[in-house]
Amino acid sequence: MNKVQHENHTMTLTDDLTGKSVKLPVMKGTIGPDVIDVRGIYGAANKFTFDPGYSVTGSCISELTYIDGDEGILLHRGYSIEELAEKSDFLEVAYLLLNGELPNITEKGEFVEAITHHTMVHEQISTFFRGFRRDAHPMAILCGVTGALSAFYHDSTDIHDPHQRMIASRRLIAKMPTLAAMAYKYSIGQPFNYPKNELNYAENFLQMCFSVPAEDYVPDPIVSNAMDKILILHADHEQNASTSTVRLAGSSGANPFACIAAGIASLWGPAHGGANEAVIKMLEEIGDVSNIQKFINKAKDKNDSFRLMGFGHRVYKNYDPRATVMKESAHEVLEELNMQDDPLLKIAIELEKIALKDEYFISKKLFPNVDFYSGIILKSLGFPTSMFTVLFAIGRTVGWISQWKEMIEDPINKIGRPRQLYTGYKSRTYQIESTREKKSIFNWLWKKN
Ligand code: SDX
Repeated sequence: MNKVQHENHTMTLTDDLTGKSVKLPVMKGTIGPDVIDVRGIYGAANKFTFDPGYSVTGSCISELTYIDGDEGILLHRGYSIEELAEKSDFLEVAYLLLNGELPNITEKGEFVEAITHHTMVHEQISTFFRGFRRDAHPMAILCGVTGALSAFYHDSTDIHDPHQRMIASRRLIAKMPTLAAMAYKYSIGQPFNYPKNELNYAENFLQMCFSVPAEDYVPDPIVSNAMDKILILHADHEQNASTSTVRLAGSSGANPFACIAAGIASLWGPAHGGANEAVIKMLEEIGDVSNIQKFINKAKDKNDSFRLMGFGHRVYKNYDPRATVMKESAHEVLEELNMQDDPLLKIAIELEKIALKDEYFISKKLFPNVDFYSGIILKSLGFPTSMFTVLFAIGRTVGWISQWKEMIEDPINKIGRPRQLYTGYKSRTYQIESTREKKSIFNWLWKKN
């Protein structure tokens, strides 16, 4: 963990009511806004801070990912997402996030070998699936089965043992595609496929999803390269809702499998990772470019809860750099798959064009985010919309487990326990008449029956 510069820089907070002041240390990172260390504010001023949604609250010190929302910059351990998407591959990015540096050839070989040999799951897990209905949403299945992994891999749940943390991290990265593919196969009533060690990570996932016993599966390099890039684009994203969920769950000492299951649950929300599925449903509902303005008007209408799915972001007030890469990739993949006339892509491009010229979106700095184009690619790769957030979860497992590892290894790590502004009743005594009243009601009910 790079040294945080504590310089003797402070900010003074003065209570205008009492005139009392409190000096708060300012902490400086390598790039990005400084933070005011408010840990002492309750002791000094008998006050809490208030920031529902934590939009201006630093919850931790991290070296993994840096986002500049105004400039549309995303760095993983200092490398831009554009460079990593173009030059790296998903397991190399996973190694980088977990260990801090890009692997050399030997390190990469060992890591890929280890992940490859952890892709199978305990055979009992396939019977675990049988408990679900066939029409269960794959995210519901993934959430349940991931949490259940701690029942099968109890030998890597001691969070204080670095070796067990490493094994659990590799097991989660390796097994998530297998579980995801099993959830998909189960939902369409086809038999599960085992991983094949001769395939790379993305190819293996695709073969587990799309191969059938009746014929040989030949990986399509266009599709597997696109899949690998999509996983890179979803790998990590600072302290988003699901990552913060993983960290909070992990701060209590919960095992890593349970923490990742909590992250999957949070990611499922349509305001977060569920947006990619919601974007496709929205584009299908728009149906034709002639209907776009009607939906844009709905999104702008304060009295209408409809939001333009795939647009806007808590941090990005500029174009999400992942959306730029995703948009280019969508064009490439659809071209290569001879689907360039995809009607949903046409609607998406026209929708983006109209929205980005509209004062409402310009003034509120609402741009396409990572989810706006991802669904179009995933649909062209043959996935049903119900699998889109599952694919997001496969990529984000690397970020979740890297953030979890960083938290466990951080000496200032402690159980997360936010406070509140209480606006309920002051203390009041339990009134006898209310007991008497209760008895009379009880007697009335008793007599009635
Ligand atoms: C992800 O945090 C992360 O890093 C998440 C993520 C990751 O990789 O982990 O990047 C993944 O979750 C991407 C976001 C996917 N969600 C969607 O695409 C759903 C649609 N977008 C929104 O619901 C919304 O933009 C959020 C939830 C993403 C952000 O919500 P905020 O923080 O409330 O947005 P904001 O404060 O910037 O909103 C400013 C204004 C508000 O209006 P006013 O109250 O000022 O009048 O813009 C409005 C919002 O109501 N607004 C939208 C809008 N998004 C915000 N209006 C219409 N359509 C939208 N999409």
